[in-house]
Amino acid sequence: MKVITVIGTRPEAIKLAPVVLELNKRPHIESVVCVTAQHRQMLDQPLELFAIKPDHDLDIMTAGQSLAGVTAKAVEGLDRVFQEERPDWVLVQGDTTTAFSGALAAFYQRVKVGHVEAGLRTWNKWSPYPEEMNRCLVGQLTDYHFAPTERSKNALLREGFNEDSIFVTGNTVIDALLWARERLDSYTVELPDGLQQSLEGKRVVLVTGHRRESFGEGFINICKSIKQVADELQDVAFVYPVHLNPNVRAPVNEILQGHERIHLIEPLTYMPFVWLMNRADLALTDSGGVQEEAPSLGKPVLVMRNTTERPEGVDAGNARLVGTDFDAIVGSLHELLEDKAAYNAMANVKNPYGDGTSSQQIIDLIEQAS
Ligand code: UD1
Ligand code: UDP
Repeated sequence: MKVITVIGTRPEAIKLAPVVLELNKRPHIESVVCVTAQHRQMLDQPLELFAIKPDHDLDIMTAGQSLAGVTAKAVEGLDRVFQEERPDWVLVQGDTTTAFSGALAAFYQRVKVGHVEAGLRTWNKWSPYPEEMNRCLVGQLTDYHFAPTERSKNALLREGFNEDSIFVTGNTVIDALLWARERLDSYTVELPDGLQQSLEGKRVVLVTGHRRESFGEGFINICKSIKQVADELQDVAFVYPVHLNPNVRAPVNEILQGHERIHLIEPLTYMPFVWLMNRADLALTDSGGVQEEAPSLGKPVLVMRNTTERPEGVDAGNARLVGTDFDAIVGSLHELLEDKAAYNAMANVKNPYGDGTSSQQIIDLIEQAS
């Protein structure tokens, strides 16, 4: 059996790496990895860490790319690869434009689609944009839906998908996180020069942000609230690996550069990032992946979004939605950094997203399906 795994961006690489490693263990499966390279540097970092060498690389990324441009190039390139390789299954992950393009190109070539991380929904077409719609569209093209939780399975049932096509497997992000944590002790974590020393004796807030719906005013508010709290609380350091999207870097650099306790750094590869999540007291983020990883590490997460397709973290008590409102972000940061009881109430180790065997379960199901 031939299985093509399609990967485009950083989170897909991290979440599909354990799936590819699992495929490589199966003697009856020929595993082919195709990257669209919707991301370039941020994709190559995790691929290198997990020692995954793509068989096909469409290399489509351009600076400031448009959604339509990524879709057109990815569908055309993937169509060519699927025609040449004639796979039995195509695996796509999540809600990116690469995932949507992979599912569409597979459908055009009449190849079965397995959707990893299926069924997450906000039911708001504009938030997250365009990810909510990407994930819904992938669902329509999918043969096997690998839902991380019962809740995501129920969302798919509600939309009328056949129960026999939905499997609750947990989220492969937990497989990746456990893989990284196992290796952390024997790994020399490389952080930018002087950063580790600057964090000594400080409480740490880890920041990430990249959502399209926050571009413009949202990011300006986010940056101003970080600056405000950094000015007010002298024993708190902010560490912010800044996403390479120019729409993110412009306001972040303009508003936050040069502050003594705000460390703007380049995107980190996964091992140092996991180290930093562990070292941090809390995360301020709009990332899907970080919302899933933080409960496993017992870290409170302030989610800079108005909606989330990952309500399990909110229900588990680790996550709180603060949107991109200045007062809400500043207020919540103060509360968690100054009120021990409020902090402890959110700092529980809970893991609603899986037990680290998701990739194994997914590939078992694919093998049995043949
Ligand atoms: C994409 C996904 C989003 C995912 C995010 C993860 C879509 C529509 N968006 O958003 O769902 O949460 O990745 O980070 O699929 N860039 C680089 N180097 C890189 C990566 C990006 O320079 O390695 C810059 C380029 O200028 C690029 C821009 O960032 O054009 C935007 O990249 P793109 O993949 O279109 O959007 P993201 O915001 O990264
Ligand atoms: N991550 C990383 N380095 C960083 C920031 C994030 O390795 O500098 C990891 C993080 O642990 C998570 C994933 O990247 O697994 C999330 O990526 P991102 O926030 O870009 O995308 P999303 O999850 O929101 O789609």
